[in-house]
Amino acid sequence: MTRIAIFASGNGTNAENIIKYFQEKDRGVEVALVICNRRDAGVYERANRLGVPILHISKSEINQESKMLGVLKEYGIDFIVLAGFMLMVPEFLIESYPNRIVNIHPSLLPKFGGKGMHGHHVHAAVVEAGERESGITIHYVNEFYDEGEIIFQAKTEVLPNDTPEDVEAKIHLLEQEHFPKVIEEVIKGE
Ligand code: GAR
Repeated sequence: MTRIAIFASGNGTNAENIIKYFQEKDRGVEVALVICNRRDAGVYERANRLGVPILHISKSEINQESKMLGVLKEYGIDFIVLAGFMLMVPEFLIESYPNRIVNIHPSLLPKFGGKGMHGHHVHAAVVEAGERESGITIHYVNEFYDEGEIIFQAKTEVLPNDTPEDVEAKIHLLEQEHFPKVIEEVIKGE
């Protein structure tokens, strides 16, 4: 059984979808822990409802090596998924989980990536730039924002009158459809 920790900062729709995907059937993967750096995040209710332990870890605690590695060891974590996680992952974590940390980004990287590009900001920038398509990128995490090796991308059309909210809704559908399956494939292909 591979034990996943999901790191999230916000609403947690991806976290919920991933947890359900691995709960609905034995796929050899279990979401064993959710870590969140914002106390008011929607992901708390979702993790609690689904019976997955959720821990608050502050921005400074994320960077404390013995604390973080201790928590991950305590929960037997083999693999880390960033799902709407807005903090930089410290280097010691990347070194401790080589090719075992993946992130989802709501654009077709390398477009609309980097510091400050998250969630709604990405979709607003896509519309502002007059893009005719957008999409999702699932990638390994390295020490640079949104620059790790790309594992998977999926595209969706952006229509001339689409608002950032319209684009967000389309991206959301792609995330729901693909993210859990790609995580499963990455883990099985290890
Ligand atoms: C998702 O759209 C995810 O792709 C994006 O934040 C949203 C989180 O939603 N991630 C980033 O922008 C990372 N730079 P959720 O909390 O409902 O899963």
